[in-house]
Amino acid sequence: MDLQKYLLKQQQYIESALQEVLPQIEGPTAQLLKAMRYSVFAGGKRLRPILMLAACEAVGGESQQALKSACALEMIHTYSLIHDDLPAMDDDNFRRGVPTNHKVFGDAIAILAGDGLLTEAFCLLSQPDQAFGAQTQLQIINIAATASGWNGMVGGQVADMVAEGQDNSIATVDFIHKHKTGALILASLQIGALCGGSNPEQLKHISDFGHSAGLAFQIADDLLDIESSQEQLGKDIGRDQQRGKATYPAVAGVDESHRRAEQLHAQAITQLDSFGDAAEPLRQISAYIINRKQ
Ligand code: IPE
Ligand code: IPE
Ligand code: MG
Ligand code: MG
Ligand code: MG
Repeated sequence: MDLQKYLLKQQQYIESALQEVLPQIEGPTAQLLKAMRYSVFAGGKRLRPILMLAACEAVGGESQQALKSACALEMIHTYSLIHDDLPAMDDDNFRRGVPTNHKVFGDAIAILAGDGLLTEAFCLLSQPDQAFGAQTQLQIINIAATASGWNGMVGGQVADMVAEGQDNSIATVDFIHKHKTGALILASLQIGALCGGSNPEQLKHISDFGHSAGLAFQIADDLLDIESSQEQLGKDIGRDQQRGKATYPAVAGVDESHRRAEQLHAQAITQLDSFGDAAEPLRQISAYIINRKQ
């Protein structure tokens, strides 16, 4: 398969679904919707929704079954980026190739745009028109909530801030990365599998794949902050070192970080053997996660 073509096709599919669920409206909340849409439609790789659709198909489902949930996870992710860039957190000026949300709309609207996206995501996940049964839908909502909250992304973001400027161990960085980034990637894959009607054994393999791929993704993000450029990445580079962030390269060095990412990719794809050709997109996305330039 041609991964570039595949990614482009999936991005377009997700893009038009997002346009449908997040329309611009007029009236007193127009500015809020404008800010929400600004960050969602600024671009982005759409990796979490793409992983979700790929997991859905790997277990024998059709991607359309996971499309609404895929939009929801992209909204949660985009909210996390808007808040991550705020002056009180990473204080960044560029994201997805454009000025950060708070630079354009101000801190208050940026905070509320994040809140709006998070909440809207759960509206989508809980819509009563989903094809799978209520039990599965509840399980999906529970996975998304757990991955987003104190024991997932938000917890990881706090650990990330606490670790700033400290002398950190690999164990601490692993904890941060698995929570701030790994959790939403893992949840995307699990939700995709559930939308596709996976059995428990399939769900276990997809989850094990997700644990490795999620951590590998953040190690690659740390490396890109050192090795990429602002034009390629769409965000400022060198910021981690400036802020004394607990990153993989900071505690283990650049070469060891590359090795670890390779190792995690190799580990991830061994989980996909039983899926055969249906998991080819997941295999290639796993390679892309560690080799990407943006
Ligand atoms: C960036 O995520 C933030 C992290 C969790 C590392 P992405 O690299 O997926 O950002 P977009 O969605 O493509 O902008
Ligand atoms: C962000 O990690 C993780 C979340 C937004 C949850 P980073 O702070 O490393 O992400 P970038 O590098 O700003 O995209
Ligand atoms: Mg951060
Ligand atoms: Mg950041
Ligand atoms: Mg980063």
